[in-house]
Amino acid sequence: MEITSSAPAKVILFGEHSVVYDKLGIAGAVNPRTNITIKENNKLKICLSDYKENITTTFDEISCTLNKIEKLQKERKYQDLKVLSGNRILMIKTVIGKALNKKECRPFELKIKSNIHIGGFGSGSAIFASTAAAVQLFSRQKLDKQKIAEAANLGDTICHGGTPSGIDASAVTYGGYIEFQKSRGLNPIQIKNKLPVVIGITGIPAKTSETVPHVRELKEKNPEKMNKHLNEMHNIAIEGIKNIKKGNMEKVGSLMNENQNHLEQIEVSHSKLEKLISASLNAGALGAKLSGGGGGGIMIALCRPEDQERVAQAIEKAGGTSLITEMGVEGVRKEL
Ligand code: MEV
Repeated sequence: MEITSSAPAKVILFGEHSVVYDKLGIAGAVNPRTNITIKENNKLKICLSDYKENITTTFDEISCTLNKIEKLQKERKYQDLKVLSGNRILMIKTVIGKALNKKECRPFELKIKSNIHIGGFGSGSAIFASTAAAVQLFSRQKLDKQKIAEAANLGDTICHGGTPSGIDASAVTYGGYIEFQKSRGLNPIQIKNKLPVVIGITGIPAKTSETVPHVRELKEKNPEKMNKHLNEMHNIAIEGIKNIKKGNMEKVGSLMNENQNHLEQIEVSHSKLEKLISASLNAGALGAKLSGGGGGGIMIALCRPEDQERVAQAIEKAGGTSLITEMGVEGVRKEL
């Protein structure tokens, strides 16, 4: 038996970082996708083809890894989780363990093929969600999106240094556009008109495992100042969603600019991100901001459709790589 599953990348339109503190976030699923293939094998094997790693393991080891990570999470040992954030095999083992949900199954070989650029696009979440889906199906469980998002979010717990909000895992699992708040979960949003965006890739790794803990430390040191920014980002996201629904794209753009100002104030931006943002605004974008963990990674510019090409060229001229892609695509799925 061979099973292939896939999951898309994601971009955050409003609320990265503030969403970690139970504020509103808005995200959309975008192409490209990641593919996971599982087939029966005499040993349990994980092949990270993109990272050229390849290991053989056992179900006992998978279950020990899962227990260790869940214990660290329960005890809020964020520093220990952060240290593990570069260990991709460990994250995949954890997600496999969570997705197995104590079900027994035959050994398999799991192969990862990701077309998603690393840094800002939720490439980790997409790999985790599609891994969880493939493992569910191989172990003869039903495809359960809630459990897939939970397993993917456990992977993100390591990837984001201890306290992921859950927005990335939800966006890549459910697809489309979502509004997300930690305490209220996700709510799919119906958007009539397509949002014409251009994504700019800085080429500098997004350091979510560093920026999330950095914001946590700043918040501990200066709660008043930080809470003010986080609350304002929450209000911007509320306004954002209202105006997206109304189709008032000029206003959505100016709210994105406001959101970016707060992200700069909470120290998660980067000069290269700001260079690409300025270039896209000068080329006619309605608004632009970083998207995802920041500290590098990607930015997103909202444009009129007729300006997309010009904005993409301006991003390239400023030293970034541009991507005009479809937003609101399907979430995790089984490939036929
Ligand atoms: C990362 O894509 C989004 C952050 O808000 C972290 C999270 O929500 O887990 C920075």
